[in-house]
Amino acid sequence: MKKKKKVLVTYNMFRSGYAELIEKYDVTFPPEGVESFTYDEVLRMIPEYDALQSMFNFPVDRRLMDAGINLKIISNYAVGYDNVDISYATQKGIQVTNTPDPVTEPTADQAMGLLLAVSRRISELDRRLRFGAVKVGLLDNLGHSLYGSTIGIIGMGRIGQALARRAVAAGMKVVYYNRHQVTREVEEKYGAKYLSLDELLCISDVVSINAPHTSETHHLIGERELSMMKSSSILINTARGPLVDEKALVEALRERKIWGAGLDVFEFGDYPSEELLKMDNVVLNPHTGTQTFEVRNEMAAYVSKNIIHFFEGGPVAKVNRID
Ligand code: GLV
Repeated sequence: MKKKKKVLVTYNMFRSGYAELIEKYDVTFPPEGVESFTYDEVLRMIPEYDALQSMFNFPVDRRLMDAGINLKIISNYAVGYDNVDISYATQKGIQVTNTPDPVTEPTADQAMGLLLAVSRRISELDRRLRFGAVKVGLLDNLGHSLYGSTIGIIGMGRIGQALARRAVAAGMKVVYYNRHQVTREVEEKYGAKYLSLDELLCISDVVSINAPHTSETHHLIGERELSMMKSSSILINTARGPLVDEKALVEALRERKIWGAGLDVFEFGDYPSEELLKMDNVVLNPHTGTQTFEVRNEMAAYVSKNIIHFFEGGPVAKVNRID
C-alpha cells in the first residue's frame, strides 16, 4: 500500500475544516490541550513531513526549510504570508500557498466595524457609560458622519474592493492607491478614483490600509504621511502592523494631527504600544479580522484543499512560482 503523505499542522484548530485532509493523509496536530507547536518542536519534527500547514504568526524561515528535507508545500493559513521566507522557499522549490478567498469579506467587515466604532466613538462612549464618566448633552459626544465623506483605500485588491462595496453602501466616496490602477470596470463599480498616495492622504476623511506587508510597504504610513492627513481623519489598519510606523502614529494621535485610529494589527507583535492603550481616540482589536466560527473552518478547508490539490491535481492558491 502506498504510504500516506505526512502533514504537520502547527495549531490546534477546530478539526471540522480538516476532515478531508485527515481522511486522506497522515495529519499531525498539537496534542490535546496544547494550543500550538513551538518553533523548536516543529524544527525537530519537520524532517518527517511532506507538508507544513503554518499559521500567519508562525515564522517559517531558512532554518526550518533546511530542516524540512521532505518538505514540498507550505500551506499558510492566511492571505498574508510575511511570516514565510518566500524567496528561500522558491529557491528550494517549495510551494507556498495562502487562503485569499475566505478572508476577504470578514476582513472588510472588521475594517468597517472599526471605522464605525472610531467615527461614532462607540467603544469609548460604551466605556464612559459603564464607568459613569459620560456627560449626556447634545454636543458632548460628537463624532463624524460617514455619509458623504471620502474613504481612501490603500490596496485595492479583494479586501480593498470588499471594503469599497461597504463604503459605497454607507454613502461614502471612494478613492484608492494601489501598485497598479485597477480595471475601468472595477473603478466604475465603486465610483473609485485612482490617486497617488500623497493625494489620497490629503483628501481622505478615512484612510484604510488593505495592502500586504513587504519590504516596499514597510512603514508606508509614517510621520510624513500622517502629517498630510486631515486633522479630522481616521486611520484604519486591518492588514499588518508594520505598514504603519506605530511610534509616529502614537505621536499623531497624541498631538491630534489625526482624529482617531482603528487598529486590528500592531507593529511590535500581538499587543499595541502602551501609549495606544491609554488613548480614547483609538479602537484596538487583537488581530480578529478573520476570527469568526465560520471563517476559521473555511480557512481550514482552504489550506487543506491547497495541500490535496498540490499533491493530487487541482487549483492551488500559489504564492510563489516554482519549476
Ligand atoms: C490574516 O491576517 C490573514 O492574513 O489572513
